[in-house]
Amino acid sequence: MGKIRVAVAGVGNCCSALVQGVHFYNSSEDPVGLIHETVGGYAVSDIEFVSAFDIDRRKVGKDLSEAIFSAPNNAPRFVNLPHLGVPVLRGPVLDSVGSFTKDLIEVAEGEAADVAGELKAKRADVLINLISGGADKASRFYAEAALEAGCAFLNATPTAIASDAAWSGRFGAAGVPVAGDDLLDQVGATVVHMGLLEFLQGRGVHIDESFQLDVGGGVESLNTLERTRKRKRAIKTAAVAKAVPYRFPLVSGSTDYVDFLGNSRDSFFWIKGRYFGGAPFTMDVRLGTVDAPNAGAILLDVIRGLKLASARGMGGVILPLSAYAFKNPPERRSLAEAYELFREFISS
Ligand SMILES: NC(=O)c1ccc[n+]([C@@H]2O[C@H](COP(=O)([O-])OP(=O)(O)OC[C@H]3O[C@@H](n4cnc5c(N)ncnc54)[C@H](O)[C@@H]3O)[C@@H](O)[C@H]2O)c1
Repeated sequence: MGKIRVAVAGVGNCCSALVQGVHFYNSSEDPVGLIHETVGGYAVSDIEFVSAFDIDRRKVGKDLSEAIFSAPNNAPRFVNLPHLGVPVLRGPVLDSVGSFTKDLIEVAEGEAADVAGELKAKRADVLINLISGGADKASRFYAEAALEAGCAFLNATPTAIASDAAWSGRFGAAGVPVAGDDLLDQVGATVVHMGLLEFLQGRGVHIDESFQLDVGGGVESLNTLERTRKRKRAIKTAAVAKAVPYRFPLVSGSTDYVDFLGNSRDSFFWIKGRYFGGAPFTMDVRLGTVDAPNAGAILLDVIRGLKLASARGMGGVILPLSAYAFKNPPERRSLAEAYELFREFISS
């Protein structure tokens, strides 16, 4: 079925987990941690990296296999990588560096690469946007480059691309697939919150109030604090609200940065409700995760799903991928419905 040629914008922690994950599953018989071993006939071993872009001088010019372990990345190393032959090229800076992260991201000197030209030259099938959240101009720049190169676009950031009618319309008109926005982690706070509420609702429990707040130590947690806290809260709350068919006081959002947590994240959940005879109950849950690997299995599913969409000649928003794998798709579905849509898409 051929290889899936992947380009990545943003060689940060998520990129590190993704690149390591491809090699980890290639060199292991054990699929534990994957959601799907194959997607539409594509295995993880069909994925290969062809291009990478970043703006940090400690990453630009290095091979992707080294750049993913360069500061300020702090995702854990779980595999030894061979040289990949993919030098990290300098992307355009635009609005990428906020005042909170200006001391953590060291911008590389020199001109930005011709991103669309590189995507064409490397015949990239999918461009994954994994740059810092809130860099709307830079994210749109990469979406534009994907359109120009006719390369499918996966938007893991909260910038509205797939969920923006004008942008998704442009991808549709160009016959180029797009999936987004804002990746929904494998076992992250948003999906766990949705799952808990769906479960309780299905058991006839009435939810009276709930919140979910978390703290993390990756650069993106600090960046979120400054630039995307309100937007992420709105996206996460809207995603979680979908789990229950009535309105109730609900807050779901990232809260703070604790540097010594490293790439870990602690998420706190509070739920209060009533069950039989109005008996009250409360639930207090703490989830401890490592941030970057939480994106890996979902990214692997969407990369393969986008290749499948391209092979089928589809363009515009691919709803089965967007509803399944993102917090802010153009149309929301419950977890169960989204999963079903995805399964139908990859098996049809
Ligand atoms: N599990 C998760 O970590 C998760 C879940 C959902 C969404 N996301 C989103 O994925 C993105 C990446 O998250 P992360 O934790 O890897 O962040 P990170 O801060 O570790 O990495 C971001 C990388 O992008 C680079 N960058 C910034 N601007 C750039 C530009 N214009 N061109 C090229 N590179 C640029 C930075 O130098 C850095 O290497 C964020 O937008 C985040 O909101 C992550």
